[in-house]
Parts: sequence; structure tokens; C-alpha cells
Amino acid sequence: MGFKFISTGSYLPPKVLTNFDLERMVDTSDEWIRERTGIRERRIVSEEMATSDMVTLATEEALKNGNISKDEIDGVIVATVTPDHAYPSTACWVQKNLGLRKMAAFDINAACSGFLYGMLVAQGLLNTGVCTKIILSGAETMSKAVNWDDRETCVLFGDGAGVCIVENSDDDSDIIASYWAADGSIGDLLMQPAGGSRLPASHETIDKKLHAVKMKGRGVFKYAVRYMGEAADIVLKKAGLTVSDIDLFVPHQANFRIIDATCRRLGVPLEKTIITIDRYANIPAATIPISLDDAVKSGKLKRGDIALIVTFGGGFTWGAALVKW
Ligand code: ACO
Repeated sequence: MGFKFISTGSYLPPKVLTNFDLERMVDTSDEWIRERTGIRERRIVSEEMATSDMVTLATEEALKNGNISKDEIDGVIVATVTPDHAYPSTACWVQKNLGLRKMAAFDINAACSGFLYGMLVAQGLLNTGVCTKIILSGAETMSKAVNWDDRETCVLFGDGAGVCIVENSDDDSDIIASYWAADGSIGDLLMQPAGGSRLPASHETIDKKLHAVKMKGRGVFKYAVRYMGEAADIVLKKAGLTVSDIDLFVPHQANFRIIDATCRRLGVPLEKTIITIDRYANIPAATIPISLDDAVKSGKLKRGDIALIVTFGGGFTWGAALVKW
């Protein structure tokens, strides 16, 4: 049984925060951010909106784009590291917001790899007949999770949601090959130290800003290039394909230099690569579905195309999938 992305949608908040805006907030410059990361601007969600609200709007667009009725949906998966609450899950709020009937709804936390992890979980649910049509989303409100005094992290992230509606295919659309992995031994390179059972919220954790993203950027960079390249090699080998068979390369958008280094290592031309980091920055679990939606809307991804999705993120987690769209 094949796997099909039947439609896509996204929500990017209208408020734009440029690098020049950031120059007035922390000791940084447009030049530094552009040269080191490729980011020009990012979107910032309004104060009253949470992650589930963005997923709801992105899903409404995906349902409309695919001419799909809400009654056809029987599962909701949201990949996020910035849920509305620790519980209930963001997916449960989405189910409520959309007025969906009773069904399975749950979140996945694999940081930036969350969408790819969710996709492989959805594939299992569809193949075993547990679900027939799933809302698969990646969404983040990073603006509420960064320390706006920390120039090393606050310039890197943005907000947004991407949604793909997926089902078993009745044609040759499929996940041709996939691979996923994790290595918890390097988890401390990228984490939110407080707010969980290891370090519950206290006055001290708030004063020390331990509820915000903490990152050792150079370490992340090194592993990202290595593991994204390895993951791509593995799925190409599994499928018996080469990069020349790929119509579109869809890498996680953490840093343009990471994307560029990965393209060089694999021999993928930049023209075949979807780039959204310049406009939206890094929206951890949302970069892949937003990139897919962007590629569909711009005509870069068409039925029958072969896309290579590659990701990495906190955990550490990483993986790749070759998709026949
Ligand atoms: N503006 C100006 N200067 C800055 C800024 C900033 N925003 N941030 C750091 N600097 C300074 C540093 O303090 C340092 O100054 P020093 O030399 O006086 O000590 C200098 O710039 C160089 O800092 P480095 O950290 O060495 O810069 P680097 O070239 O490694 O770039 C970056 C930093 C962009 C974070 C890079 O390491 C990176 O992209 N790493 C990958 C991490 C990543 O993408 N994370 C995103 C989330 S993770 C994910 O999606 C999985």
C-alpha cells in the first residue's frame, strides 16, 4: 500500500520581524545574520495565538486545497516542541477547534525531525488500517520559547505551521525509502533546560531564563551536516537511486550554510533545493511541511516528482525519506 500527500496548507503569521528590527533589540547586525545563517526575516505570531491556532488555520487551507471534508479525517498528528500546554496535546486542541468527530489525536516531539517522524508513524497507521486519512502537521511558536536577550539563538527562529493531509494511495505515490535515527548522548547540544521533571519551574529557573532554547551552535552545525548527508545516502542506497533521480531536495531549514554544505556533499544543485529559511528562519518541526506547501504552490513539486526530504534536530534526531509525490 502506498502513501500519498493529498493536499498541503500552511499558516505564516502576517507580522514580519526583519534582521534590521533585531539590530534594535540585541547586539547583532543584518550582515552577521545573513552571512552566518541566510536569514533575512522571520514571522512572529500574535500574542493571543498558540500553536494549535496556527495548525487549525493551516489545516483549513489544506482541507480546502484538497477539497476534503472534515468527516473524512480520522487522525490528527502534530509535531512540535512548542505545544500549547504540556497536556492536553496540541493535536487535541486542533481536533476541538476544527469540530472533528472523536478520533486519535496526539503530538510528537522529535524537535526539528518531528514532521519526518510523524510521517513515518502516519505511514504505519495507514498501512495497518488504523487510520484512513490523517492531518499531519509540524508547527511552532518559537517566538514564545526563545530568550530575546540571547543574540546567539533569538535571531535563528520563527513561527508558523505546515499541514499535509495523507492517506493510502490509489496510484504510485509512496514513501519509496525512509530512515530515522536518534542519539540521546548529544542531546545537551540543544535543549530547553527547565520546565520538565528534571528541573521544574521555579523562581530561580525563570530568573536564569532556563525555559528558553539553549544551544551549542557549532556542535549542532557539525552533526547536522554529517547526519543529514548520511541519512540521504542511506535512503538513496535503499531505493537504488542517485541524486540525479531527484526532482526536489527538501532539507530542514536551520541555516543556509548547513543546507549548502549538505548539497555540496551530496552533489545536489541548489536550483533543485527548496529554500525558505531566508523568509521564515528556522521553524523547527514546521520547516518541512511549510517547504512542501511552498513547493506545491510555486509549482516546484508536482504529482509524480521524486522528493528527497532530509532533516535533523534536537534529541539528537535525524532522518530522510524519498517520496514519490
Ligand atoms: N550577532 C552578532 N554576533 C553574534 C551573534 C549574533 N546574532 N551570535 C553570535 N555572535 C558572535 C559570537 O558571540 C562569536 O563572537 P566571538 O568570536 O567574539 O566569541 C562570533 O559571533 C562567532 O560565533 P560562532 O558561534 O562561532 O558563529 P558561527 O559561525 O558558528 O555561527 C550559528 C553561529 C549561526 C549559530 C551556527 O553555529 C549555526 O548555525 N549552528 C547550527 C545551529 C542551528 O542552526 N541551530 C538552529 C536550531 S537547531 C535545529 O534546527 C536542529
